[in-house]
Order: sequence, then structure tokens, then C-alpha cells
Amino acid sequence: MIIGIGSDHGGVNHKETITKHLVELGHQVIDYGTAPGEPADYPDIAEAVAKAYIKGEFERGILICGTGIGMSISANKVDGIRAAHVTDCYSARMSREHNNAQIICLGERITGPDLAISIVDAYLAAEHLGDRHARRVEKIMALEK
Ligand code: RB5
Repeated sequence: MIIGIGSDHGGVNHKETITKHLVELGHQVIDYGTAPGEPADYPDIAEAVAKAYIKGEFERGILICGTGIGMSISANKVDGIRAAHVTDCYSARMSREHNNAQIICLGERITGPDLAISIVDAYLAAEHLGDRHARRVEKIMALEK
């Protein structure tokens, strides 16, 4: 799978850890910044990743900041994006099965590295269930109009 990833300075350690894990699993990871030691404003990174998704550059996205909140608020401002802020594996799975989230947002100051990896694995393993869930997702997207 091609996965896009981005973080601000508050999430850069998790970005490195998660990237290493995903590459070991055989995924292709596109890194949209920031680099270690380079402070970044989370809306800039969220915008880059969300717009890259819309352009078709990758299949699933991961955004990390200190809490995951700033990244999710920002990414969800981009038309067509459903970015889920998740702190547990069940929510990560549901974010795909029910909400068809294209991006998950994690908080490095909230979620430890091992749990963050389990959350990412749960998210990537899940698929959207369609049917009544697809109808509800269509209603979410209609709210953008
Ligand atoms: C940066 O200090 C911090 O505000 C950011 O990483 C994030 O937690 C915002 O939601």
C-alpha cells in the first residue's frame, strides 16, 4: 500500500517510528515532513497531506502532532477529507469500517509508540463496510456543500 505520512515537531518521533514499521511491512511511505529538528505548524503539514490524498498520491494517510487534535481539525477543512482522531485500536478500525476515513490522526504526547503502531495496523487492516455506512458517509460529505 502507498501511505502518506506527516507530522509537526510534536509528532516527529512517532512519524519516524511508524515509517520504519510500515517500510518493514513492505509498504511504500511518502513523507510530507517535518524533518527531525525542524519545527512546523501543524495546519501546513495537514494541508499538504490532505491535498496530496485528494490528488491521488497515496491510498491512506497518517498525521501526527502533539495531541492529534490540530491535525484532525486542519485536515478536515480540506474538501473531501475525512480525518479521524484516534487513540485506540477499536476506533481506528471503526474509522475505516464505518466512516471510511482516508486519514487517521495520532497524538505523540497522548499515545505511546507501541500503541500508535497497533492503531496504525488496525486502521490499515480495516476496510469500509459500505451499505448503510456508505449512505451515512455520503451525508457527511453533503455537509460540505
Ligand atoms: C504543538 O506544540 C502542538 O500544539 C501540536 O503538536 C498539536 O498538539 C496541536 O494540536
